[in-house]
Amino acid sequence: MKRVLITGATSGIGEQLVRDYVRTGWTVIACGRHAGRLQALADSLPGLQTLAFDITDLAQTRERLNGVTADLVILCAGTCEYLDHGVVEAEKVERVLRTNFLGPVNCLDVLLPQLSAGSRVALVGSTAGLVPLPRAEAYGASKAALAYFTRSLAQDLQRRQIALSLILPGFVDTPLTQRNDFPMPMIITAEQASRTIMRGLDKGRAEIAFPWFFALIMRLTALLPAALQRRLTQRIAR
Ligand SMILES: NC(=O)c1ccc[n+]([C@@H]2O[C@H](COP(=O)([O-])OP(=O)(O)OC[C@H]3O[C@@H](n4cnc5c(N)ncnc54)[C@H](OP(=O)(O)O)[C@@H]3O)[C@@H](O)[C@H]2O)c1
Repeated sequence: MKRVLITGATSGIGEQLVRDYVRTGWTVIACGRHAGRLQALADSLPGLQTLAFDITDLAQTRERLNGVTADLVILCAGTCEYLDHGVVEAEKVERVLRTNFLGPVNCLDVLLPQLSAGSRVALVGSTAGLVPLPRAEAYGASKAALAYFTRSLAQDLQRRQIALSLILPGFVDTPLTQRNDFPMPMIITAEQASRTIMRGLDKGRAEIAFPWFFALIMRLTALLPAALQRRLTQRIAR
């Protein structure tokens, strides 16, 4: 039986992935910060294994993931905090970068030496990392950093036959986006996101960006000169 380890398993996209992988017969190791939430998930999904730890705590991550192996690892845990009115709050930026960038790095530090040839690691970035968006200084930077890191690491891991996939969602309806106070074009459900991710991983895709039309707009916008990009994104933000 194939084994998948998923972080961010207690909510949103990660939780949906847990449910869908269990349903398709995989052995699932669900990771999250809160033991209580993980237990509630395990109560509804017999056979589910759980590991409680905070991905920003390297010592705890090393202790919990020590010796754990899987055919597939999906590093989905993440957070989002926006900056308001261009005020740069260092603690806020650090929180976002620690969770979205250094958190996955902490997991990779422990897991990569334990993975065998033929396994795959998927990192959940965001289409927000493709184009600088207003208020997304911290979130976008964390996801842009993660995208660069993943694309670079993919080249170095080829030799060990460990494949990497970068997942770039657009807007997905989850507790994370339910806090947003602005319109979210082409928003999809967590069920749709999970299906798209699973299909892409099954096909061994290096990058899984969706919804495809939203991702295409973001990729095309990224090709425009900076001044034109800025005019466009500011108009969208208004
Ligand atoms: N929703 C979207 O529109 C969207 C778009 C693009 C990318 N994404 C990315 O997709 C991923 C999942 O997002 P989501 O929308 O499903 O968010 P969500 O519903 O808020 O779920 C986030 C998950 O990450 C976990 N988490 C947060 N900080 C953690 C930490 N320090 N250590 C361990 N676990 C931690 C949370 O656990 P707790 O229960 O402990 O808080 C929760 O399980 C994130 O990386 C996000 O950036 C989302």
